[in-house]
Amino acid sequence: MKHILSSLQFKKEDLEKILKRASVMEGQCKSGKIKKLLEDKIIACIFFEPSTRTRLSFEAAALKLGAKVISAENAMESSSAFKGENIGDTTRILCSYADVVVIRHPQAGVVEAVAKISTKPMINAGDGANQHPSQALLDLYTIKKEHGRLSNLQIAFGGDLLNSRTMRSLVPLLAFYLKNKFYFVSPKELAISREFRNYLTKNKISFEETSNLEKILSKVDVLYMTRVQKERFASSRTYEKVKDLFILKNAHLKFLKKNAIIMHALPKVNEIEADVDLDSRATYFRQAQNGLYVRMALFLYVFGL
Ligand code: NCD
Repeated sequence: MKHILSSLQFKKEDLEKILKRASVMEGQCKSGKIKKLLEDKIIACIFFEPSTRTRLSFEAAALKLGAKVISAENAMESSSAFKGENIGDTTRILCSYADVVVIRHPQAGVVEAVAKISTKPMINAGDGANQHPSQALLDLYTIKKEHGRLSNLQIAFGGDLLNSRTMRSLVPLLAFYLKNKFYFVSPKELAISREFRNYLTKNKISFEETSNLEKILSKVDVLYMTRVQKERFASSRTYEKVKDLFILKNAHLKFLKKNAIIMHALPKVNEIEADVDLDSRATYFRQAQNGLYVRMALFLYVFGL
């Protein structure tokens, strides 16, 4: 049984396999000739945290492949969690109805914990500030598609790097490829955690930290902006203090390379000025669309098809 819990679980061969399959899925979607390989499957999606793209693209991916979908959005209120049911019991029940369970939860480590008692594959669709492996895969697919390569890239992450599960999930995948260098650009309050810094050093991953966005713009091939994760702050006062410290402005674009790409997992709030959307280097809407193809490929990978 294959759970998808963390991007750290993948070997390079797995990545290549999923990316190749995602490209086949994209081709099938675009030609309208999709092989309904999941006709006999039921996919359960249970989301204890808000989501637009992740849940809906998992569901669309399942439907495209002919599966049926059962879904609990807003599960803190709409599932029996509201009545005090523990997540373990909820998981046991979902496993008796569905062939795979896609789950998002605010608490880091929860999906990994319930996977231990699960009788069906679990897919982590984001657990707190910890991991978001399907996002990392679609980000990788996007970089490959836009740049034609996954190595020899200068990649900057900007914004809330303390709480970003998307950054934390993508870096280990890009680190498989040679000559990639990372820049972590954030206000001091939102810098990468000590634990993540130790992980980078221990794995000899080349990186620099700075709070000066202007300084690195002309160097990078990928600028990956992140949202300040309001829901992870203990008080709204602390959030208010940092929320607008870091904004990619239209005026910055002139410093970026012609073929650089601007990524964002979305939703974006204030961290990217609206005009930036009009620049052809703004990749985030294409990136979100790639989520559909990658999640189709991920279901097939999980089922060993
Ligand atoms: C991200 C997430 O949930 O971690 N969004 C997503 O999955 N598309 C990023 C975010 O919410 O800021």
